[in-house]
Amino acid sequence: MSGLFITLEGPEGAGKSTNRDYLAARLREQGLDVVLTREPGGTPLAERVRELLLAPSDEVMAADTELLLVFAARAQHLAEVIRPALARGAVVLCDRFTDATYAYQGGGRGLSVERIAQLEQFVQGDLRPDLTLVFDLPVEVGLARAAARGRLDRFEQEGQAFFEAVRQAYLQRAQRAPQRYTLLDAAQPLDAVQRAIDGLLPGILERCRG
Ligand SMILES: Nc1ncnc2c1ncn2[C@@H]1O[C@H](COP(=O)(O)OP(=O)(O)OP(=O)(O)O)[C@@H](O)[C@H]1O
Ligand SMILES: [Mg+2]
Repeated sequence: MSGLFITLEGPEGAGKSTNRDYLAARLREQGLDVVLTREPGGTPLAERVRELLLAPSDEVMAADTELLLVFAARAQHLAEVIRPALARGAVVLCDRFTDATYAYQGGGRGLSVERIAQLEQFVQGDLRPDLTLVFDLPVEVGLARAAARGRLDRFEQEGQAFFEAVRQAYLQRAQRAPQRYTLLDAAQPLDAVQRAIDGLLPGILERCRG
């Protein structure tokens, strides 16, 4: 048995967490075994690495350090949570995954796609998400939503140009592999985004049961 691995991607404030919970509720109504998780993090150790990644600090974190911490957390998360859940046939809904690494460490920090791809292969082997929902919205809309929540983390303190690069990296990846990615207009009101997710449910259910 092998489950279904769904990731939710997009910049700060795009609605990933809100809609991950929404999608989980819809799938659980159908009797599916759903595991909700997030990156960086998802296990106690990986959540400690998340704290290192997000905490603002006077010491500038080298881009390579950031990249390796992201994948270190991911290795733990895969071993402890994602692979066991998929092995028992669960649907894994993960708030951010390796597309975020291509977007933030690649697009945002300017690290090479080749380097990220090497680590992806090393840490994940052939495991890739089955479906990735990309919540796309103008940078200033997302930043305003994130700012409304209060204190900014180390990434949220970046400027407009960083987040434009993040957005473009997500859009490029979605365009290159349309069979894996579903692009959602996250600037719409939440109920419109959720109607769009409702529209994806039959396909997801079919893949879970097929
Ligand atoms: N389509 C929407 N329209 C308006 N507000 C929204 C919409 N989607 C989410 N929100 C609100 O925006 C805020 C951020 O949403 P959420 O936390 O789900 O985003 P996120 O993508 O998980 O952000 P982060 O990357 O910072 O965790 C929340 O207050 C949420 O209620
Ligand atoms: Mg979130």
